[in-house]
Amino acid sequence: MTLPKPTQRSLHAHNTFGFNVRAEAFLAIDNKEEVAPLLTPYLEADNPIRVLGGGSNILFTQNVPHLLVHPTFKEVQVLAETESHVTVSVEAGFNWHQWVLYCLDQGWYGLENLSLIPGNVGAAPIQNIGAYGVEVKDYITWVQYFDYESKTFKKHDTASCQFGYRNSIFKQELKNKVLITEVAFTLPKKPKVNTQYGAIQSELERMGVVKPTPQEVSKAVIAIRESKLPNPKEIGNAGSFFKNPVVDKKQANTILRDYPNAPNYPAGDQVKLAAGWLIEQCGWKGKKVGAVGVHSKQALVLVNHGEGTGKEIYDLSQAILESVAARFGITLEREVNVW
Ligand code: EPU
Repeated sequence: MTLPKPTQRSLHAHNTFGFNVRAEAFLAIDNKEEVAPLLTPYLEADNPIRVLGGGSNILFTQNVPHLLVHPTFKEVQVLAETESHVTVSVEAGFNWHQWVLYCLDQGWYGLENLSLIPGNVGAAPIQNIGAYGVEVKDYITWVQYFDYESKTFKKHDTASCQFGYRNSIFKQELKNKVLITEVAFTLPKKPKVNTQYGAIQSELERMGVVKPTPQEVSKAVIAIRESKLPNPKEIGNAGSFFKNPVVDKKQANTILRDYPNAPNYPAGDQVKLAAGWLIEQCGWKGKKVGAVGVHSKQALVLVNHGEGTGKEIYDLSQAILESVAARFGITLEREVNVW
């Protein structure tokens, strides 16, 4: 087996903000079998390794000096099938939205609400991607990864992934310690659509659909996302820049007393507030600061209008954090990884 070698590479096309930083040692791996032989020498020499999937949840503020691994392997394997369900594994390099469409084509359902989320399959479990009432953890059976310490492949089943709202073990104790290589899903073969999220229902009504199929739910989700979220091919962005804050009831009630219409959702014995709403209240929606800014239709999304830098986005996010903290006493947390 001839192994590929890392090369210096512009990351312009590898991050959805469109920042022109450089990787000193970029290594695309298109065959899972090459993972261990390629990474082991780096690990034995104690060299740090970073992983880049679709580049849709990352803010580059500088060049990347470490080995940057980009998994492109994308095999699919049906592991088990019954009349009602399929368990199927897919490798990390498969584009997420293409995977959702592939499943719908096979008659495997459940992922339709997660249509059009940018990025690759390997990144999906890291922050437990979620949208329109569904989180990817609802369908994950296991996650396989290459463990840097033991230099072997390991698996975590759903329970041991410690999934939470935009969170998992891969963002916590396994951060920068593993490369996710494959994810298995168990998906129902009988359509069972989830249209509880308000925007889906109204979009389906607009489409004139009464009894929606999963394919129609996917179309509705695509239409909602396209109407609210900027297309990274047109305006650089990484989706939601901050997480929605989860606060205790007392703090939520203080805000709701002053702003009875503030969007809020139950989250166990706490309350989740809408970061987009908080940021909009602070006057940031649609604001431009130099070449970067806050999206005009969704204040949770920071955008690069063309000539901006990662540092400018970072500084803008800091100014937003400070103004939300000053006005509401809530410290927002960045959802995007800052490098
Ligand atoms: N809102 C405002 N102003 C804004 C933005 C939102 O008042 O500028 C209000 C909305 O009117 C609504 C509430 O905030 O009442 C929630 O807004 P929305 O439904 O747009 O969802 P979100 O909470 O802002 C989350 C996810 C999105 C996901 C949507 C739909 C996070 C951090 N973001 O956004 O995920 O698509 O729900 O489920 O949880 C992403 O992670 O990149 C992402 C786009």
